Amino acid sequence: MAIVTKKINPPQKILKKRSSLKQNKTAYTSKKSSFKKIEKGTGKSLINKKLSEKNKTPSLKTVERQYLKTGIPGFDDLFEHGIPHGNSVLVAGGAGSGKTIFCLQTLYNQVLQGRKCLYLSFEESEQRLHQHMEDFGWDLKSLKAGKNLLIIRKNPLLLSTNIEAMVAKAKGELMIDINEVLDIIPSGFAPEIIAVDSLSALAAAFTSSEQGYRIFIEQLFRYFEQIKLNSFFITETEQVPKKYSKTGTEEFLADGVVVLYGIKQGNVRENAIEVLKMRGERHQKKIVALQITNQGLVVYPEQEVFGTIG
Ligand SMILES: Nc1ncnc2c1ncn2[C@@H]1O[C@H](COP(=O)(O)OP(=O)(O)OP(=O)(O)O)[C@@H](O)[C@H]1O
Ligand SMILES: [Mg+2]
Repeated sequence: MAIVTKKINPPQKILKKRSSLKQNKTAYTSKKSSFKKIEKGTGKSLINKKLSEKNKTPSLKTVERQYLKTGIPGFDDLFEHGIPHGNSVLVAGGAGSGKTIFCLQTLYNQVLQGRKCLYLSFEESEQRLHQHMEDFGWDLKSLKAGKNLLIIRKNPLLLSTNIEAMVAKAKGELMIDINEVLDIIPSGFAPEIIAVDSLSALAAAFTSSEQGYRIFIEQLFRYFEQIKLNSFFITETEQVPKKYSKTGTEEFLADGVVVLYGIKQGNVRENAIEVLKMRGERHQKKIVALQITNQGLVVYPEQEVFGTIG
């Protein structure tokens, strides 16, 4: 339910110089934390040891990483820590597989933690998305009061027309000022997490050139990376996809891919979920059961799913 912090492999601390380097003395580390015993030896050998340690340790800076937890029951257990901060994640799946709920639920949980979130919809209206959230029993009134969740619907056709015109003018070499074109993030609102629903709706609006869409999408990923946002991009696929986006490049641009399946078991279609990739994080590599309940998504990390492809 929260962004957690984990310290990873703090570099060995350099021993601080003491006034005398006598045998059997205890040297202490340069940081306040711990005392460290160093072995017996002559003053000269101790100095040599210090120099060699200094050469081995590049920096005293503590490396810290932050991880985002979606708060979706069972889903976060698929990771060792969570989704690395700043990662862009593709949420791919077939019609009705739970992509929109996945993103709304994650953002809702993040807002409960006090983080600002933006849901950019190219499909359903703000009212319908609010309605879905209320249907799941999520307390929207208090969220609205906090003003930390912003849901904006944009017309993908208007956007694509603008971008195509700019790309044509610059003969495809243009570096688009994404935020100016998209006007994605309203001034005065600085979200930490953004969901885009969906790239497929956007891609479909690029009627005259696929090149325009490719240029746009590459720069959109780069832009979110620069401003260090956690981003979720929904893509529409087959129920059991082999390709996770329209052009097939989005899954390589994204740091992570989460796939939502509709798998046939006899004449029943069951929902399932998989973390296909997540740069910078260890995760389970299996397709596990997913249920869409009247309170939102629930993942069963121990329940592997096998079924008929298609
Ligand atoms: N209250 C509920 N209880 C159980 N299941 C529900 C409930 N509300 C919606 N669903 C299921 O969730 C599905 C819709 O989920 P969602 O809108 O997240 O799908 P999606 O992948 O975004 O679909 P699309 O590609 O059409 O946008 C419905 O088709 C239905 O099966
Ligand atoms: Mg949807």
